[in-house]
Amino acid sequence: MLEKINQTAEYLRSRVSDMPATAIILGTGLGPLVDHITDKQFIPYSEIPNFPVSTVEGHSGNLIFGKLGEKPVIAMQGRFHYYEGYDMKTVTFPVRVFKALGVDTLFVSNASGGMNKEFVVGDVMTITDHINLFPEHPLRGKNYPELGTRFPAMTYAYDPELIRLADEIANEKGIRLMHGVYVGVTGPTFETPAEYEFYRVIGGDCVGMSTVPEVIVANHAGMRVYGISVITDLGGKDVKQVPTHEEVQQAAVIAQPKCLEIMKELVNRC
Ligand code: HPA
Repeated sequence: MLEKINQTAEYLRSRVSDMPATAIILGTGLGPLVDHITDKQFIPYSEIPNFPVSTVEGHSGNLIFGKLGEKPVIAMQGRFHYYEGYDMKTVTFPVRVFKALGVDTLFVSNASGGMNKEFVVGDVMTITDHINLFPEHPLRGKNYPELGTRFPAMTYAYDPELIRLADEIANEKGIRLMHGVYVGVTGPTFETPAEYEFYRVIGGDCVGMSTVPEVIVANHAGMRVYGISVITDLGGKDVKQVPTHEEVQQAAVIAQPKCLEIMKELVNRC
């Protein structure tokens, strides 16, 4: 694994002169953030040694090097989901490569279904914590001390200072930014009404099919993390509306300007 990470990092270093210290993983419908990155250099996943290729509709696969405002960034356009059939080492491989390139701060975004009754479709939520319900752990197996410690703490998996900054920005801009706990599950089914209720009872505010593996690995690697979730549908026993992939993408597009404003400012101020 170490060899693969280094090989990939070396390749990217050979293609990119100015290496960013900030990486952003763009989730469903949040791809348009790419339009705000300047001086762009696209590197398709298919050209990157050891990178898997994304399979889901609506997710294109590129690493994008450029600037968001004044800040050099790497953006991942298209992520790897566990439900696509990748194992956890593959899902989190790009985060390992980011660390090897010198990235110290990771921003992640995703779409999720809301269980918190205060949420409405199109809300944006700072992820303050998560509950990992994936059946496979990305750190299971041999631990390489070069990559991180055997038993990493997850107490501050989402950086408190970045959470505070995001609140400050949302306040200034008049954006309703919720806080909550993200429950990470495999999918690809959306939840049954009973499952949404269950995830609420155990302490979740929203549920989604990504993010948790990458955040665990970023913490293992000693990176600071900020996560934002777009509430694209609501779930629970009183909800009669059936969620669809199209509806999720449409809601994400509606919420995208709020996400974009927060992300842009946050990346520049941190
Ligand atoms: N459940 C799981 N993942 C999701 C949902 C949901 O309701 N909405 C968007 N991603």
